[in-house]
This record gives sequence, structure tokens and C-alpha cells, in this order.
Amino acid sequence: MTAADEGPAQAAEADTIEREVGARITPSADFLARVSEVRAALVERVTAAAKARSSPLVRALVAGSAARGTFLQDRLDVDLFLLFPPDLPRERLREEGLALGRAVLSEPETRYAEHPYLRGKFEGFTVDAVPGFAITDPSHPLSPVDRTPFHQEYLAGRETPEIVRQVRLAKQFFRSLGVYGSEARTEGFSGYLVELVVIRFGSLRHLLVAARDWRVPVRLAEPGKEPPRLPADVALVLADPVDPNRNVASALSRRNLGLFILAARAYLSRPSARFFEVHATLPFSKEAALALLHARGTHVTVAVLPRPDLVDDTLYPQVRKAARAVADELSRSDFAVLGEASAADASSVVIVVELAHPRRPQVRVQDGPPAGIDRVGHFLEKWGAKSDQVLQGPYVRPDGSLGVDARRAERDAEAVLRAAFPRLSLGKDLTPKEAGPCDVRTLGEAAETPALAEALRALLARRLPWLDDP
Ligand code: CTP
Ligand code: MG
Repeated sequence: MTAADEGPAQAAEADTIEREVGARITPSADFLARVSEVRAALVERVTAAAKARSSPLVRALVAGSAARGTFLQDRLDVDLFLLFPPDLPRERLREEGLALGRAVLSEPETRYAEHPYLRGKFEGFTVDAVPGFAITDPSHPLSPVDRTPFHQEYLAGRETPEIVRQVRLAKQFFRSLGVYGSEARTEGFSGYLVELVVIRFGSLRHLLVAARDWRVPVRLAEPGKEPPRLPADVALVLADPVDPNRNVASALSRRNLGLFILAARAYLSRPSARFFEVHATLPFSKEAALALLHARGTHVTVAVLPRPDLVDDTLYPQVRKAARAVADELSRSDFAVLGEASAADASSVVIVVELAHPRRPQVRVQDGPPAGIDRVGHFLEKWGAKSDQVLQGPYVRPDGSLGVDARRAERDAEAVLRAAFPRLSLGKDLTPKEAGPCDVRTLGEAAETPALAEALRALLARRLPWLDDP
């Protein structure tokens, strides 16, 4: 298979790599047969359980990648959808759905995304039992999962065995880059989005050839149709074929789309199996970070908050917002901000900010009123007397207005941030309930936690992953 404008040598090389990777990630015929049996058994069991309980269940189906064979073997979740009448009250939908899930799954565990569901085991497989409404028009869903059966129908009708193979390869490519998954933590490509773009372009390679020249933001219009309007800050717009007003790619960040575009170019010009490997992230120690800071001649300040009891999807947007608020505050307070990053682990939320200097200057230039207006009197009264607070002035500035060089009380980034913390807008669940001391320290004094390691990696170890190809 060759695509338009890559060289023949690269194309042959990529063909070989994709054949090898494909063989490695393709589930065996036996395994696919097992999945297919489990699918049928699940639907049968849950339908029987519904009958036994006189549950108002309308229909049960397995959707998602397990229904189409487009899953990555080591990431297989079976998505079981339990569809109820649209007029069932939401509270009952939840109860009935969870009860049916419990009736057929072992080791059940209730989870909440934007929607409650039950995760459990069935014949050795991990199953998510998700209640939804049996709607007829997917452009008017009653719950966020109601479109899924329509996705299943749309994709199943378009996926040949070759497309299924290409979807798995593409998912592996995105995963290797760290941009597979639409969770708030990842801000990447959902499985459904990957399937749609592979169908659109016909293969992973053709997708990469197209993506190589994309400029963020990207709109992918249906041939012959108006492209959807572009909301601010979005990276990619692709209308959901079953609901044209929904952007399938709304979770994707511009950074992650940019990374994918660059990777497409790199892979096409120099194909390598590395683009399909999942790299283990090595621990990133405080010690390593401090050595880097020494070489960079910079400083890192660390703010730590207790983790609120929230799922990652709700927490991460707030953590990113808080990190921006912290970095903006330091910037407004005359620190030269080089970068910011954040992360959360089971117990804490960590925000790190890299600064050119740990201390800001003692002197702060205070603007005064223009000569000739009444407020001059007030300014001179306040600043005219010799005092510790005045380092120079008052004086006349080049534009004819007054100024004074005032002395600052706080110079350390940590002290400035600690003082500002109570008035920062940190996100609804991160704002401390009562005003207490906040945990802001230099990196040297910060506690070594998994969240700190992750945040430091995102701040100080950024490098295009394919550049160090052996
Ligand atoms: N879905 C969606 N938008 C999302 C996440 C999920 O529309 N952001 C729907 C899709 O119809 C998807 C189904 O929910 O097929 C199941 O979700 P998920 O398990 O996340 O995706 P899969 O397609 O099963 O892909 P994966 O192999 O990653 O599980
Ligand atoms: Mg799935």
C-alpha cells in the first residue's frame, strides 16, 4: 500500500513495520471467538435477569470496540449498554441499570463518569454496564451515552476486516504518542474518533499523509457539506455522523493534535516501529529536577493542595485552571514565568511553576498621576517624605507624569504566592473550604510524591519522543 507522496523506500519500510506491528496486536481467532461468545452470553444473561426482575429494560447490546473487534487486546473493556424507556425517571434508570449490572457481573464496582455505570467481571472479561435511554433520534440524546448504539450501527456498516486492522494500528500509534483516550486527563483521541478518521481516509497511512499538512485548528468537513462552526480554542472539529451538532473531537487539546501532526510527518519520512511502542515513563525524581534547574539557572515553586474526592474527569479541568491562575498571579507579580504544569495522585494535587529567578527585585516602580492634575497633591503626600518605603523619588518620568520607586515587602516567590493564594480562582472544588495556611514551597523543600514526579516531567522533560530513535 502506498500513499500519494512518500518515497517508495519509506513506503516499503512502513509496509513492513505495519505488517509486523499488525501481527503483534491482532487478537487471535480464538480470542475473537471468545469475545463474540461472551458478547452473546452477556446479552442473554442480562435479558433473562431483566425478565426475572420485571425490569423495564427495552434492549441490551454490546457496543464499543469489543463489538467491532477494533480493541487493543491489552485494553479490552466490554461495553454493555442497557437501554430503558425514554420516559423512565433518571433515578430509576440508575437503580435499574445498576441492579441489572449487579445481577450478571461479579466484583461489581459503581463508577461515575458524567453518568453512573457499573464495572465488573464476566467470564474473565472486564465489563462496563452502562444504563441509557432507548431513543430514536441520536441528535436529541437524553443521557450522554444514548448515541452509542447509533455509533455502533454506523461503524459496523462501514468497517471491513481491513479497516478493523487499520483502526487497531491507528489506536496503537495514538497510544504510543500518549494521546489515546478522551478522558480529561489525556485530552486525546477517543476510540470512536480514531475509527471515524480511519474510515474517512481509508487507512492509517492515508490518515497520516493527510494529517502531515494539517494546521491547528483543523476542520474535517463531510464531503459536499458545510464544515461545522469552529468554537473558540478547539483543536479539531469533526461532526458526529449520528449527531451533526456534536463535535466528536471536543476533548482533544491543541497540543495533542500538534504532536500528532508532527509525528505523522516524522513517521512518513522515517518509518520506525518505535511509533507503535508504548514507552514506560521512568520515575522523575526531585533530585533529577534540581540538577536540571541548576543547569538551567532557574527556580521551581511548588503548590500542593489536598485532592478533593472527585473522579479524574471532573478534577483535571479544575487542576489545569488552578495551575493557570497560579502562573498568571506570579507573572502579574513581576516574576518571569517560564512554564507551568500540574498533576494529581490519590491524595494530592500539585502545581509547579518554573521561574527565571526565585526572588523578584526589591524595587517596584509605582506610577503616579500626570503633572497638572489635583491628584498630584495626594501622591506627593503619600510618597514625598523620606522613608524606608521609598528607594528613589518621587521623580518626573519621561512622559511628564510622576513616579516613585517603592520598596517591596515580599520578594520570594513562595511568600508572594502564599499571600495571594486565598484570592486566586482555583476551580470550584479546589478552593479551600476555610482560609488556612496553604502549602507553597520551593522544589527543594517539597515532598516527593507521584503527582510531583508527574508534574516535574511535564515541566522539565519535554522532548519530541521520536527524536532519539536509535
Ligand atoms: N463514546 C463517545 N464519545 C466519547 C467516549 C465514548 O461517543 N468521548 C461512545 C462511543 O460510541 C464509543 C462508546 O461510547 O464507541 C464506548 O466508549 P469507549 O469504551 O471509550 O470507546 P471504544 O470505542 O470502545 O474504544 P476503546 O477501544 O478505547 O475502548
Ligand atoms: Mg471500549
